[in-house]
Amino acid sequence: MNFKDNIRIIPDFPEPGIRFKDITTLLKDGAVFHQAIDALCAAYAEEQIDLVVGPEARGFAVGAPVAYRLGAGFVPVRKPGKLPAETLRYEYTLEYGKDALEIHRDAIIPGQRVLIVDDLLATGGTTEATIRMVEQLGGKVVGLAFLIELSYLNGRNRLKDYRIVSLAVY
Ligand code: PRP
Repeated sequence: MNFKDNIRIIPDFPEPGIRFKDITTLLKDGAVFHQAIDALCAAYAEEQIDLVVGPEARGFAVGAPVAYRLGAGFVPVRKPGKLPAETLRYEYTLEYGKDALEIHRDAIIPGQRVLIVDDLLATGGTTEATIRMVEQLGGKVVGLAFLIELSYLNGRNRLKDYRIVSLAVY
């Protein structure tokens, strides 16, 4: 299945020169969404994943169904000020700007096997921040899974110590 057929390209969004990869066209097609989630899960089916960690907001739409399918728990990573309990914070650089992410400090039991899932791997800044937080809490990052990888931004290089699965590479 070529998932690119279901990813819409929006030129000049959110800024001139950026060709935005819109996954809403993939998500709204039930059969294609199902196949995409199954493909990500198949890659990690033997890994005994305890937790899927997904960054907001599109990481929730992909990560939660992956967690459900794998029989794992789901842990959200959120932008600052959104999580109600005590958090760990990490500052990072992303494709267009700078930001910080947070995770609940009690979200992971040390030794739990974690799969990080997001819609998109671009520079890898979001994923790197997420890995650092998971590892600081004692989780073992077993792998990374994405719908889309923008290979020209070299995120894979930045994350070279980890297994990466992506369904549509640009
Ligand atoms: C996008 C995307 C990834 C991240 C990838 O999220 O969903 O999380 O950027 O970029 P990077 O590899 O360069 O870090 P965004 O911050 O736009 O948040 P959203 O999902 O809430 O729109």
